[in-house]
Amino acid sequence: MDVVDRRVLPNDFAMTAWRPRRLRASQVMRDLVCETRLDLKSIVYPLFIAEGHGIRNEVSSMPGVYQWSPDRLAGEAREIASMGIPAVLLFGVPDRKDDLASEAYRSDGIVQRAIATIKEAAPQLMVVTDVCLCEYTSHGHCGVVENGQVLNDPTLELLSRTALSHVEAGADMVAPSDMMDGRVGAIRRTLDSAGHEMVPIMAYSAKYASAFYGPFREAADSAPQFGDRRGYQMSPTNAREALREVELDIQEGADMVMVKPALAYLDVIARVRDAVKLPVAAYNVSGEYSMVKAAAKMGWMDEKRTALEILTAIKRAGADIIITYFAKDLVRWLQEG
Ligand code: PBG
Repeated sequence: MDVVDRRVLPNDFAMTAWRPRRLRASQVMRDLVCETRLDLKSIVYPLFIAEGHGIRNEVSSMPGVYQWSPDRLAGEAREIASMGIPAVLLFGVPDRKDDLASEAYRSDGIVQRAIATIKEAAPQLMVVTDVCLCEYTSHGHCGVVENGQVLNDPTLELLSRTALSHVEAGADMVAPSDMMDGRVGAIRRTLDSAGHEMVPIMAYSAKYASAFYGPFREAADSAPQFGDRRGYQMSPTNAREALREVELDIQEGADMVMVKPALAYLDVIARVRDAVKLPVAAYNVSGEYSMVKAAAKMGWMDEKRTALEILTAIKRAGADIIITYFAKDLVRWLQEG
């Protein structure tokens, strides 16, 4: 029997007529038929801001990623903007933590000061802020804790205050990442009643309880001191539930939705893309970055090719916006071609 079932072919000519390799024969042709292009304009670069002076600490598990003190931030913001990176996502590393995360919503808190510095140094750089409490709570959970439980509704009040304080400091968009129920609606109402109805919300809608956040917890000093986040972040086993979370966030007023992590959840990105009309963001998280950096350092994989393949896959799966620690590397790689 033939390898090819001739009954499905219109005629023998078709055997030689079909040569997909024609469209792969030269770089010009490959570029011409390229379906997925990475574009700097849809990249968001995360930044960690730490309390103190003169600080530019490399995160040991994330080579090339630093914690910056506010006084060193102006130069960094100008550099990021001049490289053509359009937006940053801010995380704060305060030096005081307490049960109610009070440093998260102080008008002169670490992130609030950072926003003002960046907006002054590089006004064209879009400033997005991560809205969560875990970096600010002594127990490291994303909400108010009572008797070992993370309480949902009392947390909404603190998240709303945090988001409002970021916007009052000049943030262009807020991104709640806590996974409490109803937080998008609560933040939307708070912003609107304070006259900030034009500030959009990027919701971390489908955020999974993931081992890929490991290096981030060193960068942001946000590891939970007891238990884990499985009581509020999603189970990696569930994709339909992601659609439900996305649907709820949209009903509550999200302007864009996010899937996080990205690489192990490309199917979820694709399903969300099909299900909604809003822009979809994907977070290429710390562990996804560190794996590539570590393998490259060992000489086991080619960093540029691996990272570009991952970012392209995230885009191909359907992400409009990619949040990635590779942003600066990407600028260089896109220039090199
Ligand atoms: C805060 C938050 C986390 C990340 C973004 N926002 C950590 C977590 O949920 O534990 C992870 C980002 C990354 O790993 O790069 N809740």
